[in-house]
Amino acid sequence: MPLLIKNGRIITATDDYCADIYCQDETITRIESGIDASTLPSDTEVIDASGKYVFPGFIDPHVHIHLPFMGSNAIDDHESASKAALVGGTTTLIEMICPGPDDEPLAAFNEWNGLAAPLSAVDYTFHMAVVRFDELAQDQLKTIVADHGIASFKIFLAYKGALNLDDSDLFDLLTMAKGLGVITTAHCENADVIDAMQRKLIGEGKTGPEWHEPSRPVSVEAEGVHHLATFAELTGAHIYVVHTSCTQAVEAAVGAQLRGVNLWIEAVAPHLTLDETYTHKPDFEGAKYVMSPPLRERSNQETLWNGLKSGIVSTIGTDHAPFNFGDQKSMGKDAFTQIPNGIPSVQERVDLIHTFGVLAGKIDLNTFVSVCSTQAAQIFGLYPKKGSISVGADADMVVYDPNAKHTLSVDTSLSKVDYNAFEGWEMTGRSSVVTVRGQVQARDGEFVGTVGRGQLLKRKPTHF
Ligand code: URP
Ligand code: ZN
Ligand code: ZN
Repeated sequence: MPLLIKNGRIITATDDYCADIYCQDETITRIESGIDASTLPSDTEVIDASGKYVFPGFIDPHVHIHLPFMGSNAIDDHESASKAALVGGTTTLIEMICPGPDDEPLAAFNEWNGLAAPLSAVDYTFHMAVVRFDELAQDQLKTIVADHGIASFKIFLAYKGALNLDDSDLFDLLTMAKGLGVITTAHCENADVIDAMQRKLIGEGKTGPEWHEPSRPVSVEAEGVHHLATFAELTGAHIYVVHTSCTQAVEAAVGAQLRGVNLWIEAVAPHLTLDETYTHKPDFEGAKYVMSPPLRERSNQETLWNGLKSGIVSTIGTDHAPFNFGDQKSMGKDAFTQIPNGIPSVQERVDLIHTFGVLAGKIDLNTFVSVCSTQAAQIFGLYPKKGSISVGADADMVVYDPNAKHTLSVDTSLSKVDYNAFEGWEMTGRSSVVTVRGQVQARDGEFVGTVGRGQLLKRKPTHF
């Protein structure tokens, strides 16, 4: 069905103007002022965006949906996660495929895509985690890039014995990635140091969630960034540091950029809005706030916001990783090392950043769009079909009411997780209408779309 969005204030990463947007066959075909609805096909759906912003659909470049991890499995499926994303204004998800060290990469790709394809209500693609790098894995990774359009890898320097890659494999992987033009996203924390620190703290009887941060302090993350950047410097590979949490890590990344390393920095919503004091909440409630890298001392947030404002930090994702408080986080009652890591926020990200970023004066509206949508599309080979409002782009749009007040709560969350890390927080701004390729998929906090409509987005490598 054709779609006309009238009277909106269109805000992209670079522009801010008023016009009407007409979409046919899933695509934006006209952007003009005063498009007369009576001249359009009679079945055109007309949305009045008076007093509202029209943004390109937001992109979350870092989510976990299917995630076997730390003896458990993340609780969302692709239906619940994509519905949550949509009502929050996110129309494209990039999920991490995280197989175990014995799994074959191609089987993992087929498993993840097999789960996503029938259930995803948003368009999606994957970062392919590399947790083994033998000859079979190398061949299969090349096939995944060439035949399945996956143009980004993921590596973990953390999670010793589970997901982390050793240094000789890291060097060879980055060499291969450079040759393929694939960007490598990376979790940068030193696995061995964390392992030693964890054993020391547990040995001293320091077992509660509040000891998670001291077990992996900022220096451990900064060392991880510097470590990865050294390998990128030597191989020429392009790298993207995920969920950067602190000043020292940003400084290490900027130092590498100044040496000529092709490096991009991601921040995530939890690090921008929560701090390490949440892990001190009584009755083990602090476990809800255990993620890695950990929530930091609040002053680090200023660095992240300033980095976003100045362009040093390119994107804001969520690192959505939903583990129930009741029966999953509780596995770590006796030792924080057993708490499944993750703070879900795929539904909340856009409103959190609008409220605490735009309305608080930390970033302007164009930067908001740039870091929550456009730059993810550009870095990961989705632009301009995604991340832009332009003729020929996919008709993924968010009609956003900047004045709507609402309260975040587990009661209104479409994720399956049994808690909301932002419970009771007052937000200003909410997505009124969310479209994916010209079809309304969410309206005023409700999913109104079609499950399984999401498509796998095939990408071409661009990072040569
Ligand atoms: O705590 C986190 N971040 N959980 C998900 C896995 C990861 O490291 O991204
Ligand atoms: Zn991570
Ligand atoms: Zn993650």
